[in-house]
Amino acid sequence: MKTIGILATLALLATAAAAFAQTAAPSEGQAATASPGVLDGKSLFRAKTCVACHGRDGAKAIQNYPDLAGQDAKYMLAQMAAITDGSRVSGPDPRGYPRTQGMKDVMHLTSAEERAAIAEFLASQPTPKPRPLEPAPDGARLAAGKDAYLKSGCGTCHGPDGSKPLATYPLIAGQKRDYVALQMTEIRDGIRKGGKVATMLPFAKKLDDAKIALIADYLSQVERGPK
Ligand code: HEC
Ligand code: HEC
Repeated sequence: MKTIGILATLALLATAAAAFAQTAAPSEGQAATASPGVLDGKSLFRAKTCVACHGRDGAKAIQNYPDLAGQDAKYMLAQMAAITDGSRVSGPDPRGYPRTQGMKDVMHLTSAEERAAIAEFLASQPTPKPRPLEPAPDGARLAAGKDAYLKSGCGTCHGPDGSKPLATYPLIAGQKRDYVALQMTEIRDGIRKGGKVATMLPFAKKLDDAKIALIADYLSQVERGPK
């Protein structure tokens, strides 16, 4: 989908969400006191415009947007907070706005309890299959990518193949290639800050663009498997 299409969809969705919020107002006090488990994360995810960019189940096929399905819940909550308060920003989209901007603009539609329920729902979703790449990297390139991943120390925090991270750290196995490459580049270049990025910085700083591309090809093709 083109960015303009997304923005138009969002404008519509925001209007719908505002209307929804108004009709839902009388029961708001009730919802606020309910525990996160009682809130329906799936419906909330779909009602709060997230689907426009992330797809109905958190696995939309936009290469430079992240898959959320199966991601760690605590990690996602921390990222929602960081994008909302502006401590996490990104480089520009084709129209010149930070890629994080569209999301930042809708996060006021969610309460802390609702975000927790959404994160639980997303984390419980099956992880998407690796996305085919064009041209498909051959076995030698994937092996070289794995080698570079391990020699760069990434496994210490993200697990030997990106699927067993330390608690609250992101799963990166099977994540979209372009998104992974962008994040590695922007963490290295100090564009993505906030959260626990500082712990990764010394490792990212040692990578040139070619090595980032190599590792991203590899990670995107790792099958994460069931949890
Ligand atoms: C206008 C599009 C858009 C909307 C709407 C949107 N997001 Fe996002 N979201 C993004 C983009 C783009 C990124 C990645 C930003 C980057 O490249 O740094 C992102 C990142 C995230 C992340 C961090 C993922 C990671 O791996 O670090 C989470 C979690 C998330 N979004 C959840 C949500 C939820 C929940 C909603 C609805 C309340 C939502 N988003 C609405 C575009 C959007
Ligand atoms: C010392 C621990 C550590 C090491 C080593 C490390 N990372 Fe990370 N990485 C993190 C943390 C923590 C985050 C999440 C940062 C945040 O809180 O925003 C992260 C985030 C990422 C992300 C973004 C995930 C997302 O969903 O947005 C990617 C991609 C990534 N790391 C890849 C790598 C690669 C490749 C290497 C090896 C060059 C590496 N990391 C080395 C700790 C580490």
